[in-house]
Amino acid sequence: MGFIIILVEKRKKLYEGKAKVVYETEDPNKVILLFKDSASAFDGVKRADVEGKGVINNTISSILFEILEREGVKTHYIEKISDREMLVWKAERFPVEVVVRNVATGSIVRRLGVREGTEFSPPLVEFFMKSDELHDPPVCEAHIVLLKLAPPEAVSLMKETAVKVNGILSGIFAKAGIKLVDFKLEFGKLPDGSVAVVDEITPDSMRLWDMKTGERLDKDRFRFDLGELMEGYKEVLKRLSGS
Ligand code: C5P
Repeated sequence: MGFIIILVEKRKKLYEGKAKVVYETEDPNKVILLFKDSASAFDGVKRADVEGKGVINNTISSILFEILEREGVKTHYIEKISDREMLVWKAERFPVEVVVRNVATGSIVRRLGVREGTEFSPPLVEFFMKSDELHDPPVCEAHIVLLKLAPPEAVSLMKETAVKVNGILSGIFAKAGIKLVDFKLEFGKLPDGSVAVVDEITPDSMRLWDMKTGERLDKDRFRFDLGELMEGYKEVLKRLSGS
């Protein structure tokens, strides 16, 4: 009688968020990000399972991280290892969200009464503290230093990098007939001590409008029930791949 031994590599789950799961690997400096088939908005109040979203977001995020790396932007990205997983450097994430806006929409319209559609040139960079409890309040550079959300020297670096990323991605999307309206980046410290762009860059974290029709191709479709979420994301991927 023979035995078949199947070795299954067990990876410990380090963290599970609304849209992603982080797994450890045999290398303590690297982790795996798995993109889930779920959508959430308004601090997780609105949630849904969306089949295929994880695969599309992993693909879009991988493409965009590869472009940024080629352009000299330091990121946590190492490689795409499966349809819904990417290998990244393990980072000490700063609890800060950096938002870049080229056109006014979303929270800036609600918070400051800026007219919807106002163009920002130069782009506006805003910081928010990541806190579910406090609903991610806007913070200024002094708050970040005071609350030790990130090292002081990282604050100007985050801002400069966000503006550089905006220039690169705006150009990439423009070629695909898409206006990059706004987006959110997160930063962290990598094992080598450098500060890098971490997390994801997907239509979940950007606003993308068709340049001709103004059609929303991003998560606003889910937030405001504007229509098929995945159709928008698939269109973004199709145009990115074609341009
Ligand atoms: O909601 P608000 O207008 O501030 O969002 C600005 C940009 O940042 C949008 O592209 C949105 O998708 C993104 N964002 C995000 N995660 C958050 C808040 C905003 O990806 N927690």
